[in-house]
Amino acid sequence: MKCNIALVKGDGIGPEIVDSAVEVLNAIGKKYGHEFSFTSYLAGGCSIDAYGVPLTQETIDGCKNSDSVLLGAVGGPKWDTLPGNIRPEKALLGLRAELGLFTNLRPAKIYDALKEACTLRPDIVDKGFDLVIVRELTGGIYFGERGRRDGKYGPEAYDTEAYSVMEIERIARVAFETAQKRRKNVVSIDKANVLETSRLWRETVHRIAAEYPDVEVSDMLVDNAAMQLVRDPSRFDVVLTSNMFGDILSDEASQITGSIGLLASSSLGSGKCGLYEPIHGSAPDIAGKGIANPIATILSASMMLRYSFNLSKEADSIDNAVNETLAAGIRTADIARGETPVSTSEMTKEIISRI
Ligand code: IPM
Ligand code: MG
Repeated sequence: MKCNIALVKGDGIGPEIVDSAVEVLNAIGKKYGHEFSFTSYLAGGCSIDAYGVPLTQETIDGCKNSDSVLLGAVGGPKWDTLPGNIRPEKALLGLRAELGLFTNLRPAKIYDALKEACTLRPDIVDKGFDLVIVRELTGGIYFGERGRRDGKYGPEAYDTEAYSVMEIERIARVAFETAQKRRKNVVSIDKANVLETSRLWRETVHRIAAEYPDVEVSDMLVDNAAMQLVRDPSRFDVVLTSNMFGDILSDEASQITGSIGLLASSSLGSGKCGLYEPIHGSAPDIAGKGIANPIATILSASMMLRYSFNLSKEADSIDNAVNETLAAGIRTADIARGETPVSTSEMTKEIISRI
């Protein structure tokens, strides 16, 4: 198979971890006879430095014309004081919107080898967990009307959350279809005791649920969900959320796996071209030191093979190599507990040697 992959390395540790994932993809290509070709595009802070804007038309077109996009991370303190419309994060939001990527899948599971790194009590960790957050990605407060105005108490700012029935229906379908391939349980998150968008969300999710009688569905308020995630994560299979709730809950879910450096994500629309990225940020504090954990990005590359290219054997091979590497006690600094930490490139080599 021939695949053209757009690389958006971004800022901070982005370039280091994307390079690791490219090495892994090349190893897979060699072993299974696929030809992966890569073209790099700028987005985020590096694009601001080069062109004055976080996202150029060239990057948008390059990503649209590719078979899939692998992204590192964007942002950093250097660009933190810029106005909202030219911040690096705008690049990510712009790409998601331009590519129509309304679904964000964020799996979180506990690795046996990493139980010690988990911040939860051992009796909770022992029950294990394996959940996936299905996050709506192109709507809600991230994309609603916002601005500054004169308010009752003087100058004020506002952001608006809006969801159409169509947007809720299509993400709900993804959640139910994802659940059908798993343990057939969807917990839909909202704040229906306060927000009107959440009431529409709840109503719509239940109407769509009727089309999937084999899947069990329940609602949970987001504040309660934040609590249940650390109280008993084993109770979750598929967690369906709006854009902002999913952003928050997925960071929480990552922390209970041991490290945010382990969580991959895929963003998909109605076609096969997706955007794959670790859920963590650009970690400017450790950028350039060669110590970042490349696993989340490597697992993102595996998700790309699985979801965009239908190469599940190859994706399994990456996932297994990561499992075996962790089981062998090899750790980057973020997940080391007494072991001597390895560098980004050593971790990459260890994973590739198990492919
Ligand atoms: C994420 C990130 C982004 C988001 C930021 C960088 C815009 O936190 O992918 O979770 O909020 O979606
Ligand atoms: Mg986030």
